[in-house]
Amino acid sequence: MIRLTRPSIEADDLEAVRAVLLSGQLVQGPAVIAFENAIAKAVDVAHAVVVTNCTAALQMALLALDVRAGDIVVVTAYSWPTTANVIELCGAQPVFVDVDPATGNMSPTALEATLSRLSQTPSTAQRLKAIVPVHTFGQLCDMSALIEIATRFGVPVVEDAACALGAKHGSRSAGAWGVMGCFSFHPRKAVTTGEGGAIVTNDPALARWLRASRNHGQDAEFVGTDPFVMPSFNNRMTEFQGALGVTQMQKLDRVLAARRALAARYDATLSSVLQRTASASVGEQHVYQSYVVLLPTEIALQRVDLIRTLRESGVEAQIGTWHMPLITYYRTRYGFRVGDFPACDLFAARALTLPLYEGMTNDEQDQVVSAVHAAVGVATTVAR
Ligand SMILES: Cc1ncc(COP(=O)(O)O)c(C=O)c1O
Repeated sequence: MIRLTRPSIEADDLEAVRAVLLSGQLVQGPAVIAFENAIAKAVDVAHAVVVTNCTAALQMALLALDVRAGDIVVVTAYSWPTTANVIELCGAQPVFVDVDPATGNMSPTALEATLSRLSQTPSTAQRLKAIVPVHTFGQLCDMSALIEIATRFGVPVVEDAACALGAKHGSRSAGAWGVMGCFSFHPRKAVTTGEGGAIVTNDPALARWLRASRNHGQDAEFVGTDPFVMPSFNNRMTEFQGALGVTQMQKLDRVLAARRALAARYDATLSSVLQRTASASVGEQHVYQSYVVLLPTEIALQRVDLIRTLRESGVEAQIGTWHMPLITYYRTRYGFRVGDFPACDLFAARALTLPLYEGMTNDEQDQVVSAVHAAVGVATTVAR
């Protein structure tokens, strides 16, 4: 089976983990600090705080902005459910925003309309605490537009950059646009620590709060004998994951270059049957956490069969990600229906993820391309 993804784990990664395991210091040591420094350098921000996973990172980022019961957080409609779940876990309410039909990222026009609506009524305006866009599949949102709108309405932006380490527009990286940016190091990402996450920020006060938050509420800069300044989590990353993170970060540019080359090869060989999710705009560097194409609308209804056919041909395929307002919890709790987020309806129904990983050979990719051409051909015949 050609898998959707395979992490790039090599001898130096194994050696780094082994050295930490043999050192006797498994938590709170120099490896995590070195990993944080590597992330901060790559994203070009002042502070990186690594944690257990990106879900923890997002929840902590919202708590750092004092998001609490009764508040509102504006969030894109199309993402892995965690992006909305962390808002609910703070006791707040997610207000979903429709997506750009070409990219699946938060639509600036829809954001503007949502913020205008919420700002009109004092009761909702006062509860509006944050905006969470997602760089879907490693493609940067239109951050210039989103930040301009957010600034005009005075609402801070937390970037869900789980999939977008290394993505840039011009020289500015994913994660460096909002007040905080959150990354994931799950094995489906370009570099991995098994499970893992990070929050980046240029704000020293937020960084200090986040470091205390991940460590039982202990403020490292507290003067006195008792540093427990707030109730909080243990969201610390282990030293052996930190060491793995350091060796993985050394491969980041190489891994991204390989993924981009493979994506370009897919573009060239699949464009006759499938639509790319978006054309990268000038100056934008997509990192292809996933290679996602849009099925023609006439065969989107057969996506389950098409994925099964691909698997039978030895190719693992998957949907894109989730239409969050329509998953069981949010549909039931808030009564969302098809038609409430029309661009997301269409994008989510048509998206198909194909295998992509650094070590993928041209032969493997050719096998995927042939299987896709055959499966789409069958689906098109059935649709007629
Ligand atoms: C957009 C997005 N946000 C958040 C997460 C959660 O990341 P983690 O699995 O590290 O908690 C994911 C996971 O894939 C994701 O795709």
